[in-house]
Amino acid sequence: MNNVLIGDDSIYEELYDVRREAEHAGNLVEEDMNPAMNALRERAPVQKGFLRELLKLPHHQRHVFAVGRQGYTALTWDACNAAFRDHERFSSKVMHTPSESGEQRLGILEMDEPEHRTFRATIQPMFLRPKTLTWWRDRFIKDIVETLVAKIAQNDRAELNLQLCARVPVHTITRAIGMEGDDAIIFRQNLVRTSAHGRISMDEARAASATVDRMLIELIAKRRVEPGDDVLSGLIQAELDFPDGVRRPLTEREIVIMTKLVMLAGGGTSWRQMGITIWALLTHREQLEAVRADRKLIDKAIEESVRWNPTDPVFSRLVAQDTELEGVQLPEGSVLEICLGAANRDPSRWDNPDAYDLHRPLQSHMGFGMGGHQCLGMNVARSEIWVAINALLDAFPNLRLDPDAPAPHMTGGLEQRGMSAIPVLLR
Ligand code: HEM
Repeated sequence: MNNVLIGDDSIYEELYDVRREAEHAGNLVEEDMNPAMNALRERAPVQKGFLRELLKLPHHQRHVFAVGRQGYTALTWDACNAAFRDHERFSSKVMHTPSESGEQRLGILEMDEPEHRTFRATIQPMFLRPKTLTWWRDRFIKDIVETLVAKIAQNDRAELNLQLCARVPVHTITRAIGMEGDDAIIFRQNLVRTSAHGRISMDEARAASATVDRMLIELIAKRRVEPGDDVLSGLIQAELDFPDGVRRPLTEREIVIMTKLVMLAGGGTSWRQMGITIWALLTHREQLEAVRADRKLIDKAIEESVRWNPTDPVFSRLVAQDTELEGVQLPEGSVLEICLGAANRDPSRWDNPDAYDLHRPLQSHMGFGMGGHQCLGMNVARSEIWVAINALLDAFPNLRLDPDAPAPHMTGGLEQRGMSAIPVLLR
């Protein structure tokens, strides 16, 4: 099973290159947009225009929900917080692209209440904190990280973005779902291809989607006969408990959709945020040494990274009724972009918000979202990043950026930021 985990870099290079991903999607932004987003926030809390328009960046292919709609952008803490928490006025159906069957392909991510709560409740127990500190960490994350760090330690240099960050989340989630060995990476390859806009043909994307569905359907059939201690078996046993008193198990299709969402949402985000956190520490040496001396600070290092540079700095909602936000009239049918990246640096909430400072007083940020849709996997992500950083600090007392390699920088699309690379010297 570990052969795939520590296998050839080329497999991972194809799947984990945030810059190339953005180039193919036509939304590459190399520049740090935080200063421009800060300037917008200082101008007004809510503004007419999609964030890309306000920043004078072109629209891109993944912005399908923007076509034919008027956009608005929320930028302050208060405006973004209000929007995230009000599902009646700001609907998550924004991403819904109707298929012939009307199927919600993004599952809970595009549902509103009360349907959302009913479906989320079937999977939520497997993602709560006690479970992420025991089941997820002890069964999957520790073993994966230890294996990877042992492999990395065979050399004097490493590229942590590819050799560590990319690999931990995908193997954690596929193992937790109940897949093993080569299946993990074949599944991920095909899953990524289902949304590899621009990189592959429609026929190839359809074939990838069929492979993903087939692999899951086969695994569901197997787990129905032989239940295991895994997320898929949990979903098979779970019941939807509707507000009108109706109870029923999830259909096979509902399980497939839920599983795909968890795999997609969890695979890329944790990879990118783990890289951002490690980079933040390597470029703030005093904070790195503080964390090395007191491992309890790893928690703060992670939260501060998700506040300072959340990998996904903007999410959207559909305006469900004519309404007003911070004095701006928003017509029904328009789209509100919630720029949580700007909200996370609102000076009305944080002193010196542009600085990475893990010693600042802990208070909630928006990097994992807010309200009913707040990230389902945030405790898994925290656990993955915690275990990885702790293992690096244990194994490499002299860990530092490689001065002979190009300096790492954040890159990718405006909507998905990650590291160019993290080249390090280990000894
Ligand atoms: C550091 C890593 C991560 C970040 C920054 C992140 C961020 C977010 C954000 C901002 C949302 C809210 C979306 C919205 O309101 O429309 C979200 C939702 C979600 N995340 Fe994460 N996420 C991370 C890791 C994960 C992981 C590891 C998993 C799964 C294992 C996961 C699964 C999900 C799911 C299923 C949702 C949809 C929840 C719902 O609609 O109720 N995420 N995430």
